[in-house]
Amino acid sequence: MKKISIATIVLSIFSHCLYLGANNYNPETDIYRKVDSLMSLMTLDEKIGQTIMYSGDWNNTGPYVNSDNMRFLKEGNLGSMLNVYTSKGTRELQKIAVEETRLGIPLLFGYDVIHGFKTIFPINLGIASGWDLEDVEEVARISADEASAAGVHWTFAPMIDIARDPRWGRVSEGSGEDVYLTSEIAKAYVKGFQGNSLTNENTILACAKHFVGYGAAQAGRDYHTVSMGDNELRNVYMPPFKAAIDSGVETFMTAFNELNGVPATANKYIFKDILRDEWGFNGFVVTDYTAINELVNHGYAENEKHATELAINSGIDMDMMSGAYRRFLKELIIEGKVEETLINEACRKILIAKFKLGLFDDPYKYCNEQREEETIYRPKFLEFARKIASKSSVLLKNIDKTLPINNKLTVALIGPLAKDKKNIIGSWAAAGDRNGKAISIYQGIKEYLDDSNIMFARGCDIESNDYSGFDKAINIAKKADKIIMVLGEDYNMSGEAASRTNIKLPGIQTQLIKTIRDELPNKQIILVLMNGRPLDLTIEDSLADAILEVWYPGTSGGLGVADILFGKYNPSAKLPITFPRNLGQVPIYYNQKNTGRPISKENPTEDYKSNYIDSPNTPLYPFGHGLSYTTFKYSEIKLSNDKLKESEILKASSTITNTGDYDGHEVVQLYIRDKVGSITRPIKELKGFKKIFLKKGESKTVVFEISSEDLKFYNNKKLILESGEFEIAISPSSDFEFNKLFNLILN
Ligand code: GLC
Repeated sequence: MKKISIATIVLSIFSHCLYLGANNYNPETDIYRKVDSLMSLMTLDEKIGQTIMYSGDWNNTGPYVNSDNMRFLKEGNLGSMLNVYTSKGTRELQKIAVEETRLGIPLLFGYDVIHGFKTIFPINLGIASGWDLEDVEEVARISADEASAAGVHWTFAPMIDIARDPRWGRVSEGSGEDVYLTSEIAKAYVKGFQGNSLTNENTILACAKHFVGYGAAQAGRDYHTVSMGDNELRNVYMPPFKAAIDSGVETFMTAFNELNGVPATANKYIFKDILRDEWGFNGFVVTDYTAINELVNHGYAENEKHATELAINSGIDMDMMSGAYRRFLKELIIEGKVEETLINEACRKILIAKFKLGLFDDPYKYCNEQREEETIYRPKFLEFARKIASKSSVLLKNIDKTLPINNKLTVALIGPLAKDKKNIIGSWAAAGDRNGKAISIYQGIKEYLDDSNIMFARGCDIESNDYSGFDKAINIAKKADKIIMVLGEDYNMSGEAASRTNIKLPGIQTQLIKTIRDELPNKQIILVLMNGRPLDLTIEDSLADAILEVWYPGTSGGLGVADILFGKYNPSAKLPITFPRNLGQVPIYYNQKNTGRPISKENPTEDYKSNYIDSPNTPLYPFGHGLSYTTFKYSEIKLSNDKLKESEILKASSTITNTGDYDGHEVVQLYIRDKVGSITRPIKELKGFKKIFLKKGESKTVVFEISSEDLKFYNNKKLILESGEFEIAISPSSDFEFNKLFNLILN
């Protein structure tokens, strides 16, 4: 017999009373009243229980919970769990929480649905390469649809850490180096995950992570120290998080790193002064995995009890996995070191989220096995994943129209990732299947070539010194019209705790492509790259005729990549992150400062300038770079005025013409430079972009509207606007020289 929890009884009576006064019914305040009424019934232990999150474990039959966590669950002292999914698995655990505990408060199930749940899309750096906000939102929508069908209420995404160091493995999870692009993408992810209403069964809580500065880890080493001035923090690393709040993100996650000597997980400046007081965020904050315990390792807490006191007093609402809140909060309250009001506030925010999801109305609404069966891997999801794989792949080089390939030709397909079905879904691939579900690039190519027109040789491993496969690779290369080499990294070489001190292709892959080139100096080589970070491709760039960066293209990746190789899709992606010539240039990103001794294009090796004696300053491939099979011509930029008054709008336009032989998309980018400021300003900043489609021969005029809001920046914790000269350009990438000015005039 289904036991009705006390919470449900109280709340239904309460709701009934509320409806009696229907004319003042307000869903938002209704939830607040219900939560307060429920909290009036809760013991301190039960309120602390809501601030605790433990992980489920897995065996071959699905999630199970270890005995301790199960005990806390049965005592009603566990508010959330991570790494538990499937309708069946979550229903069993939810049943305990709702029907076997005193108040029957539903559990919240969280999971890392980062770039898909079962249908896996390209890694987020690839999705960002599409520069298509509608696509980003749809990726999140589909991810939420699948995850919610499998019992998941909350995703620990979007990861919106600005990253400018390719040694850092988590560069793969973010949206690249740029503030504006990452901020726009952050908004799209949040909208996609949370939808228009969290009460819908296919929407889930989003989580802006990792707050803040994690991508600036020293030397690109994961979890390493982060030090930066407040201006850089506010002008570069914080804006994507504010954008997420503007889109209604319900939760935040703390970063593992310290920031200027204070670990994020106990950092009042960012979590109280900025997040709550300045930005007015009223959702809840969860720590990253065991991050409270780690305050002791940081040397910021004497012990875990002290760590608990520091974290709760910094405004951190939920403890993921450390157990510190469970072990020490009550003691600290009794000792007067922690105000009980802080527990009440934390518990309240967490209960509000559960109410918003509708879990008190129906705790099992996400546990529908039939819906799960019907939703997972829906054909239209897999088809969309194929399209995104194409739209995320960046054509870095394509001399003599090496691509696209005529499908009547014979191709030698070489490389350790050519037939891969495991790495292709990348890191943080949630419940994605690595056991054969994904479509390999080999399989994708076979959709276009007869069996007699494709030869395969692995050539070498991703990371070994075994040259025994070289001969077969050379032999098939000699017989083929074109050579496709699929090289890259193992998916474990990027993602969390996967920093590299060397960003070249691992193993002997570079020797493989060099050997093929030496043997066949005139045969066209197409390099397809499957990797999770910008790589040092200086050697490969000198050897290959075409280079296609496909990142980890996901479950339907092989088809999406083949659609580009054979011309069904004309590539349109642009780099969201700079590819350096070598590691020595890192950190290198497009919007650096000018310095007092900038080099000139005319004389880049001039003495006593800010340059290297052994390398150009320029990257191998710049931010915003990406080729098409067609060509686009940009007219000179036109301005509606050469002055912008503070309260007015300036229009900048350019007419783009498709001057090539293929219809195609183009990402038109707007860049602005503030020439003089009360602090030095970047030499250029992306301030807008529009992705347009042009048939061959077609022209379109793209218009950007600039307001003074676009020109503000932080100095001394104040968002300010300063008059003066601004340069402006509309360009296909960040590699351009300005030739247009306007003046900003303050009221
Ligand atoms: C990990 C990651 C974080 C993730 C969490 C839960 O350590 O840092 O991004 O959401 O733990 O898996």
